[in-house]
Amino acid sequence: MKNVKYHLLSLLGMAVLLAGCGNGSGSNGALNSSAAEKVYVAPGEQDEFYAFMSGGYSGNLTVYGLPSGRMFKEIPVFSQFPTSGYGYSEETKPMLETSFGFVPWDDAHHPDISQTNGELDGRWIFINGNNTPRIARISLTTFETEEIIEVPNSAGNHSSSFITENTEYVVAGTRFSVPIPQRDMPINEYEGNFRGSLSFISVDPEHGHMDIKFQLMMPGFNYDLSHPGRGDSHGWFFFTTYNTEEASTLQEVNSSQNDKDFIAAVNWKKIEEYVNNGGGTLMPAEYAHNIYDEATHTATTTMKKEVLTVDPLQVPGAVFFLPTPKSPHGCDVDPTGQYIIGNGKLSADLTIHSFDKMIAAIEGEKFDGEAYGIPILKFEDVLAGTVKSGGLGPLHTEFDGEGNAYTTFFISSEVVKWKLGTWEVIDRKPTFYSVGHLMIPGGNSRKPFGKYVVAMNKITKDRYLPTGPEMEHSAQIYDITGEKMELLYDFPTHGEPHYAAGIPAEMLASKSKKIYRLDENKHPAAVLDPSQARVERDGNEVHIYMSTIRSHFTPDNIEGIKVGDKVYFHITNHEQDFDVPHGFAIIGQNTSELLIMPGQTKTSVWEPKKVGVWPFYCTDFCSALHQEMQGYVRVSPANSNIELSWSLGGD
Ligand code: CUA
Repeated sequence: MKNVKYHLLSLLGMAVLLAGCGNGSGSNGALNSSAAEKVYVAPGEQDEFYAFMSGGYSGNLTVYGLPSGRMFKEIPVFSQFPTSGYGYSEETKPMLETSFGFVPWDDAHHPDISQTNGELDGRWIFINGNNTPRIARISLTTFETEEIIEVPNSAGNHSSSFITENTEYVVAGTRFSVPIPQRDMPINEYEGNFRGSLSFISVDPEHGHMDIKFQLMMPGFNYDLSHPGRGDSHGWFFFTTYNTEEASTLQEVNSSQNDKDFIAAVNWKKIEEYVNNGGGTLMPAEYAHNIYDEATHTATTTMKKEVLTVDPLQVPGAVFFLPTPKSPHGCDVDPTGQYIIGNGKLSADLTIHSFDKMIAAIEGEKFDGEAYGIPILKFEDVLAGTVKSGGLGPLHTEFDGEGNAYTTFFISSEVVKWKLGTWEVIDRKPTFYSVGHLMIPGGNSRKPFGKYVVAMNKITKDRYLPTGPEMEHSAQIYDITGEKMELLYDFPTHGEPHYAAGIPAEMLASKSKKIYRLDENKHPAAVLDPSQARVERDGNEVHIYMSTIRSHFTPDNIEGIKVGDKVYFHITNHEQDFDVPHGFAIIGQNTSELLIMPGQTKTSVWEPKKVGVWPFYCTDFCSALHQEMQGYVRVSPANSNIELSWSLGGD
């Protein structure tokens, strides 16, 4: 099958070349020369949408333009990033603190843009760290990570970071159930003893600051993905589960025994009310809360000591299970909030639950038993319909706002378009190959923007020039303005994108920050005027307060440093023009360079190990005299009497 596809593709590829040579007579999909026009953004022109793609095992978030597929930026989130010094500079190291200590990497999965009334508002984007459970909030003004909160009692923070209709909460569900609290116990006693936590993290409407409001202590299943209710179903949250068998070994076999697992429906408004009235149990827990202050350009870590937990049995009517076939993965809610789509990843069909039917079944108390005391609704009572897809391995669904849904199929490598309500398949297009997530701008909101769907494919193989055994993943963009989808373009993505979020460019471009104002710089080590530049010794710590402007450092000659000193370079960039950063690096430093934005102060630590005269320089090409932007530090023996001194131009 792959071979046939491959040969077919070669032919298609040639046809595209021919079309590109001005003989554009083809009219079937990617063969059409208009496909090229649809993704072509001419020099000087700008893209129509921003697309934020999770970086997966890069730990970061990448920013692309649509339809061009051009990558604009990698925003460091959970991983140290030498390109900007994030996680290396003294100011940003606290962002990566956890209860396990400094953790400079994570597996970043599902970005979600903040919403107001169920529509994207473009203030922040959230993303989860899967491995050492964390949620990050990134400003869509500065495109910098402003906050990271660790999630205790969680493991494999996968069913996150999805937000409610007014960004009341960012939600984080555990993929792996674990002993809570963690303790030393036999693994084969998992069943009935491990728990799965679903965390509701409140978001301050003004500053965006996050705080864990409560953790729901659920049975020991795997909580895979989740999405918020919206419209009528606002106030509810839906989570897919698998491994309701509670297997702890050989899950590939043992967690596929039950014909149906569940979608857990959680009435968070009801639990919020319970908690606001004093409900829940505080339990000891250790987790880090890291906040970056834009005025001081510095992050601080607070270690939190307890978390409020809620036993679902204490809040009757708050949690129900909806039986859903074949180990469901994606859990998606349509723009009206009426339909909850569960994609059984071992199935061909899609299961769509009805919110209204769910409410009626709950009110009629029509249950089909319970699991650990949580009522199970009858499958037939909540079923809205089934899509007989003809595909295999459905994963995720997005919506175009025109009553259509688009579902990815990993095994049959395709995107299938179908109609909400009638459940009929309208179109299907192959992907190359093995598609995971997909994204329509605003596709997870009440108001999708439609126009394009981006398929995020797991296997790249023959799509690009080979680059050794490892290749970047391939994304594909389809035009969805017509009845049939049209494949427009392939482009590589960085890391492994798990989900993405798109937003019209005009909602962000005009408010994007250009510089940090020097007169608003509240960094305690800032040098606001070059005359304040100085060097101070405190025991074997030396602090160098330095400023930069095209094309020199003040000071640029420093003497009196000794082997064994710990030298802090606090550098303030005095530029106040857009896009004029300066960099800093010094020979032998055991960290990365710094990249300092106009008006910003950043700090790099250097522990000189060798006697000599050592250069430092600007790492960012900032002017015609960038190569002249350098200085020297004289390092003397530990016992030397050389006085501390500093100068610029001999003064
Ligand atoms: Cu400053 Cu190069």
